[in-house]
Amino acid sequence: MKGKVVSNTKLNDKYYLMEIECEEFVNKAKPGHFMMVKAQQYDYLYDPLLRRPFGVCDIERGRFKILYVLIGKGTNLLSQIKINSTIEFSEPLGNTFKYNGGKKVAMVGGGVGIAPLLFLARYLKNQGTEIDLYYGGKTEDDILMIDEFKKYCSHIIVTTENGKVGQKGIVTEPLQKNILQYDKIYACGPKKMLEATTKIAVENKIPIEVSLDERMACGMGACLGCLIYLKNDNGEIEQKRCCVEGPVFDGSKIVWSNQ
Ligand SMILES: Cc1cc2nc3c(=O)[nH]c(=O)nc-3n(C[C@H](O)[C@H](O)[C@H](O)COP(=O)(O)OP(=O)(O)OC[C@H]3O[C@@H](n4cnc5c(N)ncnc54)[C@H](O)[C@@H]3O)c2cc1C
Ligand code: FES
Repeated sequence: MKGKVVSNTKLNDKYYLMEIECEEFVNKAKPGHFMMVKAQQYDYLYDPLLRRPFGVCDIERGRFKILYVLIGKGTNLLSQIKINSTIEFSEPLGNTFKYNGGKKVAMVGGGVGIAPLLFLARYLKNQGTEIDLYYGGKTEDDILMIDEFKKYCSHIIVTTENGKVGQKGIVTEPLQKNILQYDKIYACGPKKMLEATTKIAVENKIPIEVSLDERMACGMGACLGCLIYLKNDNGEIEQKRCCVEGPVFDGSKIVWSNQ
């Protein structure tokens, strides 16, 4: 698919928000989906060869958003793409978050893991679900788009490790205190945070879905570069491709120690 870059805004030294116009993509995308993006804006350039995976951060009026953090070559090239350029990307890939009709849910986001939760928050709010957001970052630079989340969330609990914004500490601390209020947990962020969040959910018998940012090469199930391990209902360990069977999984089934 191709779309027009409508904006590519630097939010701070680490993060950018890109908005792309593409009706076809927007009509197919659901919360949890990701896409593989060609980081070069010119068709004839193929370095980097591999497309990069990004979650759908939000969709609105024929446009979708990607919130991205600068890591290496691909994301730095993305940050240089000019407004009105054409950009190439796959159709929406992977599975989606499940909606089980819970009355009140907690979303737990760490750093750029907040990205797919905004689209999910918009969707759940429309279904009449009450949402509390637990949002953790290392520093104040990692806390973004709060005004967007305010449209959908009843409470937003922010933590930073340096304490410059919100409570000082890590996001699982306030979650642990309030956990019994929730019918379900949705989480995306660093693996350690997802593992800790899953532990709290499982101990309190609350269903949890996590979205995993595994390293991906093809994004379409062919290279087996994104395998993760899940425990099935018989207690056997199975391999799953994060790009096809995921990126959203039941956190309680993931074998975290193998990741
Ligand atoms: C399903 C999914 C959704 C994602 N959503 C987002 C998002 O919304 N915003 C965002 O900023 N990042 C997201 N990521 C991570 C993002 O893909 C990487 O940060 C990005 O590919 C880094 O590319 P690079 O060329 O700048 O870095 P490099 O280090 O040069 O990348 C080299 C290779 O490693 C892969 N890679 C590097 N870091 C990661 C990582 N953390 N996760 C997966 N692959 C990685 C790259 O795709 C590439 O193939 C997501 C990853 C996955 C799997
Ligand atoms: S990235 Fe190739 S199989 Fe998942």
